[in-house]
Amino acid sequence: MKKTVIYAAAIALALGMGFTANGIAADKGPAELTLQATVDAAAKAKPATFNHAKHQEKLACGDCHHSKDAAGKKVPYVDGQKVQKCETCHNKAAGMTNEKLATFKDAAHANCKGCHTEKNAGPTKCDGCHK
Ligand code: HEC
Ligand code: HEC
Ligand code: HEC
Ligand code: HEC
Repeated sequence: MKKTVIYAAAIALALGMGFTANGIAADKGPAELTLQATVDAAAKAKPATFNHAKHQEKLACGDCHHSKDAAGKKVPYVDGQKVQKCETCHNKAAGMTNEKLATFKDAAHANCKGCHTEKNAGPTKCDGCHK
């Protein structure tokens, strides 16, 4: 029994999973992602490549992830929270009051390009993300 727990912890560490303060393993999600809007998708699909693991090395989860409260207001990321897909909230039917953030494209462009511009690092030209 004890052995199983130790093995599970060892495997989790080997997989590079983080642990929150209360010892719950945080799900860090996939290392590499191909992001593609499905709800408000453009007529011509334009997937974006995203190295999640590389971004996680230098940035905080809360630089990108957050949630919302019952009133629809943004709630900052807290360790160990359930991470939802951007599109769950950033789509035209989800009641996003801010029109400039009502699609995955708009939310992603604001987040991704916004940070790249601010930090003067990472691509800001279309083909830097849309290969
Ligand atoms: C820093 C990365 C980044 C850059 C630079 C960027 N995009 Fe995007 N773009 C994304 C992400 C992420 C999405 C949301 C996922 C998806 O659907 O591709 C997206 C979505 C889109 C979509 C919707 C695609 C679809 O399939 O519904 C279009 C169209 C688009 N971008 C065009 C552009 C154009 C044009 C430029 C250059 C002016 C550009 N993007 C620059 C990351 C980027
Ligand atoms: C630079 C931005 C960024 C950072 C930093 C980041 N993530 Fe992500 N993460 C994303 C994006 C974008 C997705 C894809 C979301 C989608 O498909 O809508 C994602 C997906 C995920 C998923 C999978 C969600 C799902 O249901 O598919 C998990 C879990 C996750 N991230 C956890 C984390 C954790 C934990 C951290 C911190 C250790 C972190 N992320 C840091 C941008 C980021
Ligand atoms: C649980 C719902 C929810 C999820 C999931 C979500 N967002 Fe948001 N997001 C919001 C709400 C609500 C706001 C505040 C909108 C407003 O200004 O009224 C917001 C605001 C933003 C903003 C504006 C700047 C800021 O931080 O306030 C950006 C950019 C953004 N989200 C990008 C993303 C990206 C990228 C993802 C996925 C990695 C994501 N969001 C996932 C609900 C969500
Ligand atoms: C909070 C800041 C921040 C956010 C948000 C962010 N990035 Fe980046 N990104 C960076 C930095 C810094 C670099 C340069 C890292 C390096 O070269 O070591 C980078 C590099 C990149 C690169 C080139 C290197 C690589 O990983 O292949 C791509 C592509 C990229 N980002 C895509 C995205 C996409 C797509 C998103 C949104 C889903 C995003 N980024 C969100 C900070 C950010």
